[in-house]
Amino acid sequence: MDEPRSRYLTWESSRVTPEQRERLLGQQGCVVWLTGLSGSGKSTISRLLERRLVDSGQLAYVLDGDNLRQGLNADLGFSPEDRAENIRRIGHVAGLLADAGLVAIAAFISPYREGRRCARRAAPAGRFVEVFLDVPVEVCEERDPKGLYRKARAGELSDFTGVQAPYEPPESPEVRIDTSTMTPEESVEHLLHALRERGFVPPDTAGGDRVTRTRR
Ligand code: ADX
Repeated sequence: MDEPRSRYLTWESSRVTPEQRERLLGQQGCVVWLTGLSGSGKSTISRLLERRLVDSGQLAYVLDGDNLRQGLNADLGFSPEDRAENIRRIGHVAGLLADAGLVAIAAFISPYREGRRCARRAAPAGRFVEVFLDVPVEVCEERDPKGLYRKARAGELSDFTGVQAPYEPPESPEVRIDTSTMTPEESVEHLLHALRERGFVPPDTAGGDRVTRTRR
């Protein structure tokens, strides 16, 4: 699906290296990919994480399913093909943001393993952190923050993930969080710890204190 239509394309290389961008921004770009059912906490966790990172001097940017589907992906619905295309596009957008040096936080149900593999391939090598919000569907349905499970059960909404459409859980995500047993703040702390361990968040930042970073 990533095969370009035209054979007459050449790759134009940048004159700026990733290392130069990293020095300029004082941070490493990466993709933090949150996957999970609707109501699993993707939006809440992604917004809190973005806030924490920016407050501590790291530029992060959230790509959110509901938002992107009102613009870039307004032409896509919820068939397996459209979801695959949704994730293919976002995978590339997230990869570009990470290449530019940002912490790209993607919050999409991304129900298919192949789609998530495709997003991983689109990210700079070794800069993709898959985060599985592992919450039982019953809990998500109980929360039902947008009232969509109710609509799906009432037959007013079709192809709803967890009701009529499948969710393929990640087999070996870098991070697994059960938001039904942790507060959003605890979940973000857990995630920050995992990002620190991987070197994407410096040990001296995101600890709650505002840190002014100096350019090297
Ligand atoms: S994905 O499956 O293609 O990754 P995405 O994360 O972009 O989904 O969008 C999911 C959001 O779209 C949900 O949070 C919900 O608000 C809305 N939505 C509307 N219809 C559906 C549906 N049939 N299945 C899942 N989500 C839906």
